[in-house]
Amino acid sequence: MSTADPIVVVGAGHAGFHVALFLRDEGVDTPIVLADSLAGPPVQRPPLSKAMLLNAAEPRLAFRKPEFYPARDITLLHDTVVRIDRNRRQACLESGRTLGYRELVLATGCRPRALTVPGAGLPGIRTLRTPDDARAIRDALDQANDVVVVGGGFIGLETAAAARTRGCAVTVVESLPRLMQRIVSPEVSAHFRTLHETRGVHVRTDTTVHAFDGDTHVRQVLLSDGTRLSADLVVLGVGVAPETGLARECGLAVGDGVEVDTALRTSDPLISAVGDCVSFPAGDGTRRRLESVQNAADQARVVAARLAGRTAAFDAVPWFWTEQFSAKLQIAGLLPGTTETVLSGETADAFSVLHFRDGRLAAVESVNRPADHVAARRLLAQDDRPVGTDLASALSGRPGILRPAPAG
Ligand code: NAI
Repeated sequence: MSTADPIVVVGAGHAGFHVALFLRDEGVDTPIVLADSLAGPPVQRPPLSKAMLLNAAEPRLAFRKPEFYPARDITLLHDTVVRIDRNRRQACLESGRTLGYRELVLATGCRPRALTVPGAGLPGIRTLRTPDDARAIRDALDQANDVVVVGGGFIGLETAAAARTRGCAVTVVESLPRLMQRIVSPEVSAHFRTLHETRGVHVRTDTTVHAFDGDTHVRQVLLSDGTRLSADLVVLGVGVAPETGLARECGLAVGDGVEVDTALRTSDPLISAVGDCVSFPAGDGTRRRLESVQNAADQARVVAARLAGRTAAFDAVPWFWTEQFSAKLQIAGLLPGTTETVLSGETADAFSVLHFRDGRLAAVESVNRPADHVAARRLLAQDDRPVGTDLASALSGRPGILRPAPAG
């Protein structure tokens, strides 16, 4: 390593881009290299499964125009880091070059999970992660009549809503008993199921895919209950796995993600990690990995502050959102481990569900109630979080009724 060596950020997704941005905002004047396999300036992903699928005119994806990067002395490197040599403090690139680093930040994100059933390699079966994936699905929707979406999580349901809005016949196949089960409450799952069904989407829960059939293109999907569905297009949204290969191969601690401390340092103090690929201490002795743009940006802020010489620890309130048809769901906090539920402001299409752990507010899901979400994020960040029924008055809705959370 020489003193002129840059801070190298591996991965220019939401997390990596924000590390570079926040380093400059912090006044760090070290050279910065932002390396990614994808060409072009870094892009945001949330529109890929929403506006991008609906409109021929593409939404703006780039975080900043190309001239931003030279202006802020950030080198965008279109290359893949294939190995990290920790002894020499070098990142080895696919092009054969090596890059010395003074600090390295892993922001490698996740990759879509694949299905291993017969026929899974047939043309017409797609995953959605990159702008090119989204363009391919958008263009396929121009021709498709029958669309099968496998996975009733965020990707699956946002894609199903877009495909249905564009006039396709759509079936969602979800292996668990309810939609978005990993992240939302039974009330919210039920609301979104009704919403999709009312708009004409067929929803099949407790069902998996046994095989895909076709010749030069997928034609049918064979389900676990024996049903055969016609399909011109299949979109897989069956979850993602963290990209931990580089970290593992250079001997860093890896579990369900690259393991870091509260300052987001890996087991090598010169290597940090941020975003979807990170497994961080949850404060209760367990580790947690979050897949969200908020988490990516908040972790990037912590790493940039630390590399600028400030003390920083990560304990941001997690939040998520999704848009499907006319419904915007926003979630603040995490539901697992909550034991009581309050419904606030119940109407058919606008309500919040408040979740408590040990009597204290732990998470709030808001459907078409953005003011509740903003209030919830503020309340959850307080040390003296509200208790029980005081809460409804702190949110914008009318008081709710405290009752035990349903099972599931
Ligand atoms: P996910 O983990 O949210 O949902 C995957 C769903 O697929 C789960 O409900 C799971 O039970 C189901 N599944 C798994 N295997 C299956 C099988 N063989 N058959 C049927 N169902 C199966 O992951 P998803 O939706 O793929 O999203 C990927 C990533 O993109 C996540 O990190 C997600 O948070 C992110 N994302 C976030 C959005 C948002 O915040 N609005 C929008 C789109 C994606």
